[in-house]
Amino acid sequence: MSNITSETIKNSLRHIIDRDSGADVVSSGLISGIVVRAGEAGAKVGFVITIDPKDKDGKAYLRKACEDQVRLLAGVESVTAVLTAQNSEPIPPKPESGYAQPRERAVWNVTPVEGVKKVIAVASGKGGVGKSTTAVNLALALTQKGLRVGLLDADIYGPSLPRMLGLTEHSGKPPAIVDGKMIPPVNHGIQCMSMGFITGEEAAILRGPMISKTLHQLLRFSRWDNVDVLLVDMPPGTGDIHLSMVQQVPLAGAVIVTTPQEVALMDARKALKMFEKVGVAVLGVVENMSYFTDAAGNSIPLFGEGGGQRLADEMDVPFLGNVPIDMAIREASDNGTFYKGMCAVSYKQISERLLAAVR
Ligand SMILES: Nc1ncnc2c1ncn2[C@@H]1O[C@H](COP(=O)(O)OP(=O)(O)O)[C@@H](O)[C@H]1O
Ligand SMILES: [Mg+2]
Repeated sequence: MSNITSETIKNSLRHIIDRDSGADVVSSGLISGIVVRAGEAGAKVGFVITIDPKDKDGKAYLRKACEDQVRLLAGVESVTAVLTAQNSEPIPPKPESGYAQPRERAVWNVTPVEGVKKVIAVASGKGGVGKSTTAVNLALALTQKGLRVGLLDADIYGPSLPRMLGLTEHSGKPPAIVDGKMIPPVNHGIQCMSMGFITGEEAAILRGPMISKTLHQLLRFSRWDNVDVLLVDMPPGTGDIHLSMVQQVPLAGAVIVTTPQEVALMDARKALKMFEKVGVAVLGVVENMSYFTDAAGNSIPLFGEGGGQRLADEMDVPFLGNVPIDMAIREASDNGTFYKGMCAVSYKQISERLLAAVR
C-alpha cells in the first residue's frame, strides 16, 4: 500500500517556484484538484496547475517541473499535471438573462485533446429539436468530404449516439482499453464515444460534479485516431453542467440547432448567449424541421417560417442552413443506418458552411 496522500504531493510541490511571483506553486494557489489513485506499481497522481491564459507558453516549464518533482517521491507510479488557464477577464453578470451565472471566474482547460485537431459543440436550448440527428448527419457529411470525424456523446443522461450510429452491439459493453485509453467504436467511418457504451441506453444517474468528470474521461481517455473534427453532441439546456463542460473542452466553436417555432428559438437564444458569454465562437445556426413536403409536393412550414435565419441575424452569427422534415431521417437514426435521402444535400451544404466558419 502506498502512503502517498494529497498532502504528500502538496508538500513536495512546495519546492517548485513560480518564476514570475517568486513564490512556490502551492502558496501561490496554482495547484488544485490533486487526485491520488492506487496503481499496480504505486500511486497514480494527477493535479491541475492554473495559469493566466496569456502565460500559456511561458508557463509550460511549470508542468514539467511539477511532474518531475512528484515523480521523485517513493511510491509514485505516474504523474499527470494538467495546465489550465484562468480566464483573466471577469465575466460581468447579466442577471436579466435566464442562463446560469458562473459562480467564479472561469477556469479553462487549454490542453488540446490528443488525436483531435478541432472540437465543435453541437448544442441547442431544448431537447428534441434534432441536435443528435444533426450531429450524426453532419459527421456523415464531413466523412464524405474525406475528413476523419469523431462524435462525442456528451448527453450523459440520455446517450443516443450508439443507436443513431448503428453501434448498439457496443451498448453497455465498455470499450477495449489499450495503454490506459478506451478505443472508440467506429461505424460509417465515424469514431464514437458515449456513456451509452458504459451504461447501456439507461440514463446514468450522476450528480453535477460527476457529470463533468465523466465527460472529461470520455473526451480525454479515448484514443481518438487522427481526428480532424470531433463533434460533441451536447445535452440540452444551459445549466452549470454546460458551463463546466464548455470550460473543459477546448472548443473551436459551437453550432446551435433549433426548430423554427418561437419557444425553441427562445431557448436556442439562451444557448447561443451562453457560448458567447464564455468566449466560445458561435459558428452558426442550423434550423431543423423547417418544413414538411406533402404528397402533392407542397412545402408546409409546420412550425412557422424563417425562425433560424432571424435568430442568426439578430445574434449576428452565420445561418448555416435548414433541414426539412423527412421520415427517412427518423428511420435512419432509429436504425443506425446511413441516411442518404433528400436532406443529405442540406447536410452537405451545412457541413461546408461549417468548415468555412471554423477556418
Ligand atoms: N429533419 C428531421 N426530419 C424527421 N425527423 C427528425 C428530423 N430531425 C430529427 N428528427 C427526429 O426527431 C427526434 C428527435 O431528434 P434528436 O436528434 O434525438 O433530438 P435532440 O438530440 O435534440 O434531443 C428523433 O426521433 C429524430 O429521428
Ligand atoms: Mg440528443
